[in-house]
Amino acid sequence: MKTANELSFIHRFQPGSEPGRPPILLLHGTGGNEDDLLPLGGMIAPGAALLSPCGKVLEGGMPRFFRRLSEGVFDEDDVRRRAHELADFVAEAREAYDLPAPVALGFSNGANIAAAVLQLRPEALAGAALLRAMTPLRDPPSADLAGKPVLIVSGAMDPIVPADDPNRLAHLLEAAGAIVTHRVLPTGHGLSQTDVDLARAWIGQLASDPAAER
Ligand code: MLT
Repeated sequence: MKTANELSFIHRFQPGSEPGRPPILLLHGTGGNEDDLLPLGGMIAPGAALLSPCGKVLEGGMPRFFRRLSEGVFDEDDVRRRAHELADFVAEAREAYDLPAPVALGFSNGANIAAAVLQLRPEALAGAALLRAMTPLRDPPSADLAGKPVLIVSGAMDPIVPADDPNRLAHLLEAAGAIVTHRVLPTGHGLSQTDVDLARAWIGQLASDPAAER
């Protein structure tokens, strides 16, 4: 077993104060880091353990979770490699910190890698809240997501995510068995208070649902 200092991603870990709540895997957007989403995690999932890695790919000095060729055009080989790498980190961290499978809370690039982890390594996550996500893989393998809760919150005026893309992601995940809630807000790529309220209510429900521990 690796100790907390030996884990394969630079990360922060904040232990939870409410054992009934699933831990949250915080995945930042382009240019974020391991500190970025801790306050958001505290607002959305008060009392939950927070595990927050920093993406290893640098784009002009800005951390990300996978390489892209241009905005919205992903290097899918790298998406696959990095999704496995992140899933391996989650397994190490679960052992080191004695955690059940976490629910991912990802924003933008962090939401996209979370969607890829769901499709490639479904056992790594108990569910995922994907804020401003798009489809990370054009041709994903068939994953078994039976019963996994997924929240997708997209922005109707998002200049980065093509309008129909989140619907496609929702359908793909649903076809794999996930229980998908997809909400579209009248907003752009940035997060709003409504995102926080929706994600908090959705994650709050999971806390009382033993299926979230799967
Ligand atoms: C991505 O590259 O994952 C998306 O374009 C979102 C972002 O700008 O990070």
